[in-house]
Formats: sequence, structure tokens, C-alpha cells
Amino acid sequence: MKQICVIGVGYVGLVTSACFADLGNRVVALDVNEQRIANLKKGVMPIYEPGLEELVERNVKAGRLSFTTSYAEALKGAQFAFIAVGTPSSVNGEADLQYVADAARTIARTMTASLIIINKSTVPVGTGDWVADIVKSAQPEPIPFSVVSCPEFLSEGVAIGDFMQPHRTVLGSLDREAAEQVAQLHLPLRAPIIITDLRTAEMIKYASNAFLATKISFINEIANICEALGADVKEVAVGMGYDKRIGSLFLNAGLGWGGSCFPKDVKALAFMAAEKGRHPQLLNAVMDINYDRRKMAVTRLEEMLGSLDGKVVGLLGLAFKPNTDDMRDAPSVDIAQDLAARGAAVRAYDPIALEGARALLPEATMFTDPYRMAEGCDALVVVTEWNEFKQLDLERIHGSLKRPVVFDGRNIYDPAYMELLGYEYRCFGRGSDGG
Ligand code: NAD
Ligand code: UDX
Repeated sequence: MKQICVIGVGYVGLVTSACFADLGNRVVALDVNEQRIANLKKGVMPIYEPGLEELVERNVKAGRLSFTTSYAEALKGAQFAFIAVGTPSSVNGEADLQYVADAARTIARTMTASLIIINKSTVPVGTGDWVADIVKSAQPEPIPFSVVSCPEFLSEGVAIGDFMQPHRTVLGSLDREAAEQVAQLHLPLRAPIIITDLRTAEMIKYASNAFLATKISFINEIANICEALGADVKEVAVGMGYDKRIGSLFLNAGLGWGGSCFPKDVKALAFMAAEKGRHPQLLNAVMDINYDRRKMAVTRLEEMLGSLDGKVVGLLGLAFKPNTDDMRDAPSVDIAQDLAARGAAVRAYDPIALEGARALLPEATMFTDPYRMAEGCDALVVVTEWNEFKQLDLERIHGSLKRPVVFDGRNIYDPAYMELLGYEYRCFGRGSDGG
């Protein structure tokens, strides 16, 4: 049984802890957020992630998983320390490494035996070397350690499946033996393991996220052209996706990408490039295309309703994507602010994210039922493609709206069916001018 300490118990840290425990390791998960740890000890999850609560409960019961705020307790007997703290954007787009630095320093001051420090947070290229320097200079006396980069590729909402069946495991280190020990931990996942140097591993993570964001911005650009030319982007994506060189995933046109990763990671990669005198023109275009989507949704609605002043608009979905409560860089926030700035009264419904959204959307009135929210609205906007929206009773909704206007920001409804029901319906990239 291997002993692992995971530092940072957020989306990545908690999933990593529970999954490694489930694979038979002894895991101590640490966070500086005392409330978070106190709640976890009582079985209260800090995030919504399907299947996570059961996985945590099972492994806590089996004695393989525990939670602490004490570095000394977490590191006692640990052979591996995973750093999974946040790396948010700074004002200039650079990744903010203060939490990584804190974690590295505290590990250095607390460790009493040799340790493999594994960086799971998404960090700028060169951070692994920097972490090694921090640890070396903060240790009261020299104790051997190695730094390995092991970037995480899970997606929220399907995180446990992604962790347990990854497409690949990427490991980077200057210490081949340390990387091989970390590889051993991942062998039960039966995925290809790539061992490379630290900087290359760090770059693989940024390049992967930037590529996926580019694919989405590309299909959104195609959606714009489809609208102008009277083609249907959904069918275009299906037709493209059968080509194995293209693939069918990440070709859903709509409001574009948000969340905790793509926005900050594309920005951070562009920052790294610019800092070295390179002009990241594709990445800049990818970001521009993406953030235009949010403005376009409001402009389209204005075209449909006339002035938005005094209109009541209901948002279906707030989380940045379905099956998560994560509101980081969610399109709903920009859309609600824009609507409110144009004088609209904003209402919102989300199956899971309402609580976390309240502080971010002070201008919105929250509803716990989509049908109640729709009553008397001048228009609805689909912001997040939760499955339950695909099954809404659209005839009932039609009857309760003041005006049957729907802007479908995620292309979940069939334009012909919406027209049949009597809706004034528009979406992105399907037929002439999106409607
Ligand atoms: P998060 O904000 O959900 O969690 C981070 C946790 O770290 C918080 O609970 C915070 O209290 C804790 N923390 C901060 N400083 C600490 C310290 N010094 N010691 C101990 N704990 C500390 O973050 P997240 O979404 O899990 O992301 C973590 C990292 O993983 C980021 O670099 C992110 O880019 C990367 N990542 C995230 C995802 C994702 O889907 N969320 C996927 C892949 C990679
Ligand atoms: C992403 C990466 O997929 C994952 O590998 C990485 O570890 C973290 O960042 P996540 O942000 O959880 O995961 O969700 P993802 O499913 O990738 O969606 C990201 C954003 O793109 C969401 O806002 C989603 O709505 C949007 N998206 C996704 C589209 O607009 N169209 C698509 O076709 C796919």
C-alpha cells in the first residue's frame, strides 16, 4: 500500500484523493480551508461532482482516505505529495503561482523523510524547476526530494470516469526513477504513460487545453459563416466529425467555452508566448471569437425583442457546463450583466449552481423551478445544456411566457419543432441568420 498526500482539496484534489484511495492507496488529503476540511470530515462535499460523494464515503469507511489541515499529519509516512492547488489568472493573464509557492514552501519546512513532489496543478512551463528551487531553499536541513510534473486532464461533471480511464498519463521529470515510481501509481489505470522532461510535460497540458479551445472557437467561427450562408452548423459538425483526423468531439457550436481551465490556460499560454517575444495570433483570435459569443447572444435577443429595457429575461442554466456547480468564467455571468445593463430584469434557474451563483449574479432573481421562472417572461435564453432542459414541456412553457421568444445558446432544440410550437426561436449557426 502506497502512502500519498494530496495538497488542495478542490475539484482536482478531491477527485485525485478519492480515486487513488479507491485504487488501494492510503491517501491523506489536505487543505488550508478549515471549513472545507471540517465539512469533509462530516461527509459534506465542497463541490458537486457526480459519484464523488459515494466514492469519498466508501474510502473513508475503508480507512484509506482521511482529511486534515495539518501538513505534518499529511506528510507523515507519505512517499508522494501531489500539489493540486489553484493557479488562477493574474490581472495580466499570467498564472498566479502564490498557492503553489505556499504549498512547496510548507512541504519543505514540514517533510521529515525523502519525498516525491508531484505537480498536478496546471502551471507555466518552468514551474517544476522553480518548485525544486523553493523546496531546496526552504528546507531547514537537506532531505532528498524529486519534482515530477503530472498534469491533470479530467473534465468536470465526468471527473471520476476521466481520472479512472484517462486517455494518457503524462509525467515529466529530470529524475527518471522518480517518474517511474509515479508511473507505478498510475499502472492500474491501464492508460499509455508518457515520460518526458518537466518543461515538456507542463507544455503538453497547456497545448492540449489550447487545442480543445481552438476547436470550439473554430466551430463557432464556422457557425457564424453557416448563418450567413444558410447552412446548419450541427450537421456540418456531424459531417466533419466522421473524418478520423478531425473527430466528432468538441464541435458543439454555441456560447463557447468558460470554466476554470480553458479561459485561464489559453490566457496563460498567450502570456508565456508574448513574454518570450512570440506573437500568439491564433490564441488571441481563439479568445476573441469565444468572448464575442456572449455579446452576440444578447445582441440577438435585442434584435428579437426590440429594446431590452423593461423586458423580463429568464436564463436556463448558470453553471459553465452541465453536471457541475462550477461558476468560474461562466457565460451566464457576462450575459446577465449585459442584460441588466440594457435595462432587462434577469431571472435565472439552474438545477445545481444556484447557491454558488447568487454572489456572482446579484442582478438576477433566482428560481428553483424552470416553469415558475418562465411565467411572464418576455424571453428565455438557454445558457447551459443541462439534460433536463432537453426534456422541458415546451408547450407548457409556451403558454406561460409573455412572448414566446427563445434564444438557444447551446443549440439543444430543433428549430423546425420550435417553429411548429409557435416559438420565435433563434440559435447559433443553423440556417439563415441563426434562426
Ligand atoms: P480549486 O480552486 O477547486 O481547489 C484548490 C484548493 O486548493 C482549494 O480548496 C484551496 O483552499 C486549496 N489551497 C490553496 N492553497 C493551498 C495551500 N497552500 N495548501 C493547501 N491547500 C491549498 O481548484 P481546481 O479546480 O481543483 O484546480 C486545481 C488545479 O488543477 C489548477 O491548477 C487547475 O488549473 C488544474 N486543473 C483543474 C481542472 C478542473 O476541471 N477544475 C482540470 C485539470 C486541471
Ligand atoms: C477542460 C478540459 O476538457 C479538461 O481536459 C481539462 O483538464 C480541464 O478543462 P472542463 O473545463 O471541465 O475541462 O470542461 P469541458 O467539457 O472541456 O468544456 C469546457 C468548456 O467548453 C465548457 O464551457 C463547454 O460548455 C465548452 N464546450 C465544450 C463547447 O462550447 N463546445 C464543445 O463542443 C465542448
